[in-house]
Amino acid sequence: MNFLVSLVMYSLLLNDFTSAQTLIQDSCKKAAAINLQLKYDFCVNSLTQDPESKTATTLEGLVFASTKNAAAKIMDVKRFVEQILKAKKYGPGMEAALSTCVELYDEANGSLNTAFSSVQSHDYNTANVYISAALDAPDNCEDGFKEGKLEKSPVTNKNNILLQTILIPLAFTNML
Ligand SMILES: *[C@@H]1O[C@H](CO)[C@@H](O)[C@H](O)[C@H]1NC(C)=O
Repeated sequence: MNFLVSLVMYSLLLNDFTSAQTLIQDSCKKAAAINLQLKYDFCVNSLTQDPESKTATTLEGLVFASTKNAAAKIMDVKRFVEQILKAKKYGPGMEAALSTCVELYDEANGSLNTAFSSVQSHDYNTANVYISAALDAPDNCEDGFKEGKLEKSPVTNKNNILLQTILIPLAFTNML
């Protein structure tokens, strides 16, 4: 009896898990076709590693989860840059560029939060505008290191990953 109950529970869970995986794969496939910058494999890996995205059952659910995920990842990179600033682990002239990145990340977090509220009120166009605004943060951060004769950006890879991470909800809002 117990075994049977477990078996049924397990099948239900497995079934849920499988349909969420299919949703992620189907949505990522469409998203990568809409936006050629977005890599299908990155999209699938990013979302399957995020517990909330992994359990989403609708595309709108995926938009919520991937928007939240992007904001969280931006804040991770912000904390990383803040640590560099705190430890003063940077060469001459780098402080301004690093501080600008921190500001840009904060703005991007704000934009994604507004986007989240817009999705809640089913205003997908407004959500799209705010996610596009957030998408500028990684590039604008990198640009700050290209001015003058500064050292290379210590966050180029992280910014490239952020860009992809933000492209996911951006493409998804275009599919709603
Ligand atoms: C991101 O923005 C939201 C809303 O503006 C805010 O509540 C939250 O504290 C911000 N996150 C961080 C880590 O600053």
